[in-house]
Amino acid sequence: MRVGVLTGGGDCPGLNAVIRGAVRKGTQEYGYDFVGFRDGWRGPLEGDTVPLDIPAVRGILPRGGTILGSSRTNPFQQDDGIRRIKETLAKEEVEALITIGGEDTLGVAARLSDEHGIPCVGVPKTIDNDLSATDYTFGFDTAVGVATEAIDRLHTTAESHMRVLVVEVMGRHAGWIALHSGLAGGANVILIPEQRFDIEQVCGWIESRFTVRYAPIVVVAEGSMPKDGQMVLKDGSTDSFGHVRLSGVGEWLAKEIERRTGKEARTTVLGHTQRGGTPSAFDRWLATRFGLHAIDAVHERDFGKMVALRGTDIVRVPIAEATAQLKTVDPALYAEVGVFFG
Ligand code: F6P
Repeated sequence: MRVGVLTGGGDCPGLNAVIRGAVRKGTQEYGYDFVGFRDGWRGPLEGDTVPLDIPAVRGILPRGGTILGSSRTNPFQQDDGIRRIKETLAKEEVEALITIGGEDTLGVAARLSDEHGIPCVGVPKTIDNDLSATDYTFGFDTAVGVATEAIDRLHTTAESHMRVLVVEVMGRHAGWIALHSGLAGGANVILIPEQRFDIEQVCGWIESRFTVRYAPIVVVAEGSMPKDGQMVLKDGSTDSFGHVRLSGVGEWLAKEIERRTGKEARTTVLGHTQRGGTPSAFDRWLATRFGLHAIDAVHERDFGKMVALRGTDIVRVPIAEATAQLKTVDPALYAEVGVFFG
């Protein structure tokens, strides 16, 4: 059998480990051939391929990014997109497609599988950890590690200058990175998109921190919103899945904190540093196992499924079920960390 592989959406540490796991097991144990499609759905749409065999995946386990490239191309927005994908798969003699992506890439895979009979197996990827049906996505642990290290470093400089430091982390609709890194880094305020924040309460927590001569660190997810305000957008632009570009809430917060408390406040936006670089050991482990199980699903022709982590087991769930709803932070979990605010 010839198997196609693509990586779509925002890149994420561990993508190469999935590709390596699937290619190694598929070649060695099942005798399959592979072909890589470049830049997510753009590859099959335009017939843009990359050779993919065991030599091509040697040495890529610790490498960040993706050797296949990625994009946010949406085939349902393209003229004749589905017919073009089918034509490419037929020309390349691809009988199964491993699609590694987040809600958008997998949402497309679910529709291609269920509505158009294209045999896809999904692998969940996103640093945001907001995909339902899996306990964790790979990339998340690395992002939390990067953010935690940044918060650790910001503590000492904040204290030397007795100023407020606001750290903006990724997380459009889900505050998992903010919650985990904020807790691990000992932040004094953590703000997440799931719960609108009260700027007066935030300023209260900041002022109480100054009374004990500690400089406050505020961790804010990019999609967080004040109670009576709007999401802060970078500009008006959207990607082909209709997502607006975020980033700006950190700057807004620092200005508002300065204005209301009179304390100096600065912002650090971690941005793409959270997605770049080498994956953590946990992400390499998880991504490799996802790759191994994805090729097993192909071998059993169990299409329309996504591999998922449940406890320590890798299971299979319908892709459509996994992408139907985002996994957001439970209010009770957020309330647990509130004891450290202020
Ligand atoms: O979906 C993953 C993610 O990292 C989000 O947290 C963030 O909002 C977005 O990607 C940024 O996307 P881009 O790489 O297009 O700027």
